[in-house]
This record gives sequence, C-alpha cells and structure tokens, in this order.
Amino acid sequence: MRIRSDFNDDWLFEGRDRVRLPHTAVELPFSYFDEGSYQRRFTYERSITPEPAWAGREVCLVFDGAMANAVVRLNGEVVATHPDGYTPFIARLTDGLKPGVNHLTVVVDGTENPAIPPFGHVIDYLTYAGLYRECWLEVRAPISIERVKIETPEVLSPTRRLLARVMLDNPQGRTLTGKVTARLRDPGGHVIAQAEAAVTRAEVRIEMTGLDVRLWSPESPALYTLDLVLEAPGGRDNLSQSFGFREVSFTAAGFALNGKPIKLRGLNRHQSFPYAGYALGRAAQIRDAEILKHELRVNMVRTSHYPQSTDFLDACDRLGLLVFEEIPGWQHIGDRAWQDASVENLRAMITRDWNHPSIVIWGVRINESQDNHDFYARTNALAHELDSTRPTGGVRYITDSELLEDVYTMNDFILGNEEQGGNRPRTPLRPQMEVTGLDHAVPYMITEFGGHMYPTKSWDQEQRQAEHVTRHLEVLNAMYGDPQIAGAIGWCAFDYNTHKDFGSGDRICHHGVMDMFREPKFAAYVYASQSDPAEGVILKPVTFWARGERNIGGVLPLIILTNCDEVELRYGSHPPKRVGPDRERYPHLPHPPVILDQRHFSKDELGLWGMTWEHAEVTGYVNGQAVARLRFAADPVATTLQVTPDATEIGAHDAVRIMVRALDQVGNKLPFFPEPVSITVTGAGRRIGPGFVPLRAGSTGFWVQAQGRGDITVTVTSDRLGAQVLQLKAE
Ligand code: GAL
Repeated sequence: MRIRSDFNDDWLFEGRDRVRLPHTAVELPFSYFDEGSYQRRFTYERSITPEPAWAGREVCLVFDGAMANAVVRLNGEVVATHPDGYTPFIARLTDGLKPGVNHLTVVVDGTENPAIPPFGHVIDYLTYAGLYRECWLEVRAPISIERVKIETPEVLSPTRRLLARVMLDNPQGRTLTGKVTARLRDPGGHVIAQAEAAVTRAEVRIEMTGLDVRLWSPESPALYTLDLVLEAPGGRDNLSQSFGFREVSFTAAGFALNGKPIKLRGLNRHQSFPYAGYALGRAAQIRDAEILKHELRVNMVRTSHYPQSTDFLDACDRLGLLVFEEIPGWQHIGDRAWQDASVENLRAMITRDWNHPSIVIWGVRINESQDNHDFYARTNALAHELDSTRPTGGVRYITDSELLEDVYTMNDFILGNEEQGGNRPRTPLRPQMEVTGLDHAVPYMITEFGGHMYPTKSWDQEQRQAEHVTRHLEVLNAMYGDPQIAGAIGWCAFDYNTHKDFGSGDRICHHGVMDMFREPKFAAYVYASQSDPAEGVILKPVTFWARGERNIGGVLPLIILTNCDEVELRYGSHPPKRVGPDRERYPHLPHPPVILDQRHFSKDELGLWGMTWEHAEVTGYVNGQAVARLRFAADPVATTLQVTPDATEIGAHDAVRIMVRALDQVGNKLPFFPEPVSITVTGAGRRIGPGFVPLRAGSTGFWVQAQGRGDITVTVTSDRLGAQVLQLKAE
C-alpha cells in the first residue's frame, strides 16, 4: 500500500537555519516594510536516504505549494520545475535515488517574474516567498492512483448514484491490468456500498447506484469517503477521497443547491497573515474557515485571487461553507506563453479540487482583466471539459463584457462613486442589465464591493466605522432585494499586507471587516447579524460609548447590529427605549439593524454637549425574552489585560492564534488604549512576530508555532495591567 509521510522537517534554509515547513523565506514586520525584501531566490536543502521497503517502488515528493518558480534537484539533477506559486507539484525521485545519503535542493524565487501569472504588472497583495505549504514523501506501487474524480449526478432523484473516474499513473509504462476496488463510507465511517472494475486503460470508471445517502448542504455538510484500492502488476496502491452528494445551479433566478434557492452572502479571503505571510499551516487554515462560518456567519467565501490551501478547502467542506475558487491573476494578461501558463493553472486547480463539495463555481478569468475572447474561450472550454458539474464565472469590473462564462460575476464598486463627482445618486448596486448590457437576465453574482471605496482601519473614528457598516448594510440589502442577483461577496474578510501602490502607505489594505489578526471591526457584525438567532445572538452597537468621539458629540444615530426582534437601551436613569429593526431603511435584509435616532429621543435626552455622560445598558429580546445584555461604562478605566488563545491543546506542529485585549471595568475593549505589551514564549513553541508590540484599537494578536510535543508557556505583560501567563500543550 502507499506510504505517505510528513517530509516537512529538517530543511536547511539558505545554508544556515534548520527549518520546518510551512516556511516563509522572510518574516516581515506588521507594516512599513520594503516588499522587495523577499523578491529574490532562496535555497532549501535536505538529505534523503532510501529505505529497503522502497525497493521496486515509485518514490516521489509532493509539494503542496512553493512561491515561486521552484526548481527541485536530486543529487544535482533537476527532477521537477514548477513556476506557479499556488498549485501542488510532484518531484519524482525514483530513477535518481542512489543507496545511502542523497542530496535534495529546492530553489524558489520570490521575484515577481513577468512570465508567471499573476505577475507582469502591479498587484494589490503580496505573494511572499518560500516553501510555504507542506511537503510529503510518497512511496507507491509502480502503477498508482494519480487522482479520482467523483460525480454525483441527479441527486434529487430518489435513489442516488456516484460515478468515479479513477486516473492511473504509470510512469514506467507497464502493462495496465488488474482491478480497482471501491468502498463507500458514510459520514460515520460505515461501509455502505462496494464495487470493482477491471483495469484496462489509464482511466477506470466505477459506478455505484441505488445509494441511500444524505445530501451535502451548508446546514448539514454530510461528507462521504471513497476508499480505492488498486491491484496491478508490481503491487497495490490506495487512495481515500472525501466528497459530498450535491448539485449546484446558477440561473437568472439565482443560486440553488440541491434545488433549494440560497442567497449567497460572502466575503473575499486572502490567505495571508501578519509576519508569516502565506506560511501558516493546517490549524490556521482551518481556523480561518471557522471564523468565516461561525463568527462572520457568511455562507460563501471567494479565494481571491488564487487557489488556496487544501486544508482551508477541506474545512469548508466539513463546515458547509460554499467556495468560489479562482486562478491566479490580477488585472494583467500577459503574452501567449503567459496565457498558456494560466490555462495550466486552471487545469491544476480544477484537477486538484474537483471533489470539494464546497466549491460551487470556478473563476476562469484573471480577476478584473479586460475582455480577451480567445484566452477566455480557452479557459471556459477547459473548465467545462474537466468538470461539467460546476458553472464558470469570470470576475470583471467592466460593464458590457463578453459573457463567455455561465455566470456574470461582477465587482460592483458603484457605491461611493457619487463622491467622484458623478451625477448618479448614491446607489448600492447597479441593476444587472445595466452592467451586462444584455437585453435579458443572466445568472449574475456580485464578487466584490466596498474595499478601496471606503478603507476603514479598526482604530478609525466611530463615525467612519458607522459609515463603513452602513455601506455593507446597503449593499447586502440591495442584493437581498434583487431576485436577479445570486449573491454578494464583500471586499473583504481580513485586512492584508500589500504593495506600495495600494493601501494606506503602511503596506496594508485596511479593507477587511476584520483586521489582520482576524479581530472584528464593527462591519463584521453586519454579516454575523444576518444569521438566525438560533446560531447565536448578535448584539453589537456601533459605538465606543463616549460623549465626544463623534463630531459635535453624542452617539446618535446609533446603529445596533443584531438578529434580535427588539433592543432596549437604558441610559442613566432615563426611561428605557425599546426599538425594533429598521425595516423601513433596510426592507430586504433578513435582520435589519436597530437604529436609534431623533425618532426616539427628545432634544434634551441624548447627544447634548455639556451634560453629564451616563452609563448605558443594551438588551436584546427574542420572542419577548431578554437574550443578551451589554453594559457601557460612562467612565471607562483600563482594568484588565485579556489574553485569549484559540486553543490550549494544539497539535505538535500547529500555529495557534492568541489575542490580547485591554478591557475596561465592564469588559469592553478600550479602543484607544495605546500602551504596548511584551510577549515571551518558552518551552516547545516559538513566537511568530515581534515581542514588544502596541495595542491597535484595543487589541493585538500573535501566533505561537509549536515545535514538537511539549508544554509551552506564554507570558504577556503590560506595565499598567500586569502579566498574564498561559499554559499551552502541544501533542
Ligand atoms: C478590486 C480587486 C481586489 C482589491 C479590491 C480593493 O479591484 O479585485 O483585489 O484590490 O479592488 O477594493
């Protein structure tokens, strides 16, 4: 059977450091760095000694991703090259391995080489450098299973079936005989069906019919597993593949999963993190998916603008988070060779990811590029040939663009255009036919809005953050109200480091509804509050609760993002105000915010300059029951240093996020608390990033990278608020 082992340890980096993958070639500061610092070559070296069990078998290394232009050598001979930085590749070692110690080198090049997509012009993100994903050693039989494509046709018929196309790898050109056995396991691990087929050519088809299975959906993401065993000349090989039974459709009437319409509410995600760039492994990838699903409560994520980690996609499968995945690129289309490379990127993305039930659409255009008939006719044809079960989309910002895809996917940045002197009144989204220029409705989805039209830092003034919130609310409201729009994916989930040509000069695009540490800004709750209260009550007043933070003073109008039926505000000893969602202003949102303004207060009640400022209490009600209560202190005093890890028991190689917050006497974050903290990590872990950092908007974050099994002690110290000590266990 196949041996697959972790090959991430003991790489010698630049001839000086022993490192474990994932690894970033250059650890960056939080902001204001020179993005040229990683744009050069880096070398990784490792030894490999064959074992007796490998005799007569195929030996290869599987690299999940390397940025970029990787060249792998075994004992000085090139065994693999892979320009793309986002897709996996295999280095076949079989023929070059000699007895005893063999020498491997991998050279990666962080240069923005114009021959490689997305490069050739400016891009609004960083690509970093390094062996930033995992590497695996695989020892296989001479004929092995390269991959499988599992399709689940007509899931809405009473008895379900699956079709598996098993693709074989036969690098030695042996005669193809033998058989493939397939066993289907249900989500509980029980075998529920079995089939086999003879091997006669490099692709073996297996069908299972009459299956009694559950469908995969966001609410109930039932995952099945197909265990394949190949018996062929030279030995046995095996592969297990998870998948789900489900069917997607995009029509002019919107998106449907298994025949059920779903409005898509999503956010774009870059796969980058502070300091470590792209190089955080499995645990951090899973955590991002959990944040999107459970904290932001979106039902879709777009992997802007490239294929992301399979750990992230696997988590989307398990959690029931729908995915729009796209090829690497940003506005620029290169020459014919560049386009050929892009077509190969598309092939690599689809063949890597076609079994993920979470992926419901392929992005087959370079994000926001101009029309290019020949290029995009090719990408669409290839996507359809490789996978007839999913529609294509191609993200553009241009109107009247040639529709070669199944879905017209549009970055509609119209809101805010009125500030540029246009004579159109404030408009959240344009009607689709105005955008497409067509005289009939087509499948249509918004893939970006917000972003650079209204950059908002987590430490920006309350009023600006309220406008940030309002813009996200207005676009979601317009999307929910327009049956011709399948959904809207906001720009973006998390702030991200970028080039000097974008962002706030600090090498950050402050476009996220969360900051780079994934700490929510107010706008995060626009998304979360659209969820059902059964998923968790959301109650978030868009205020720091201070008399003089806003222009002129006071906190009105006060937007309260919530999925409650009613909200009560108590202010000092004044009579309480109980108010319901503002359906007048946001008629289409599942849960409009409660907005307290001059409609609810007399002149002498709130907001008057020169009066005493009072405590407040905000209570949310569902079905007449008080379900959440928040208090605001009129006189906040820095009281507590809160240090919260995502987990205290972690895997031996996991990176875990730890958030640090300064809180007042009632537990609220102090948005303008500027004092720094020092962070030390001892034991079986390493701190990623600097050890002396300011709080920004009342918080900061960092990751601790476990370095094998053992105890880890984390100490965070503030001069004023004292020290907090955390014990973590890695195993
Ligand atoms: C879009 C682009 C994104 C990001 C965004 C900022 O034009 O597709 O990558 O740059 O603008 O708002």
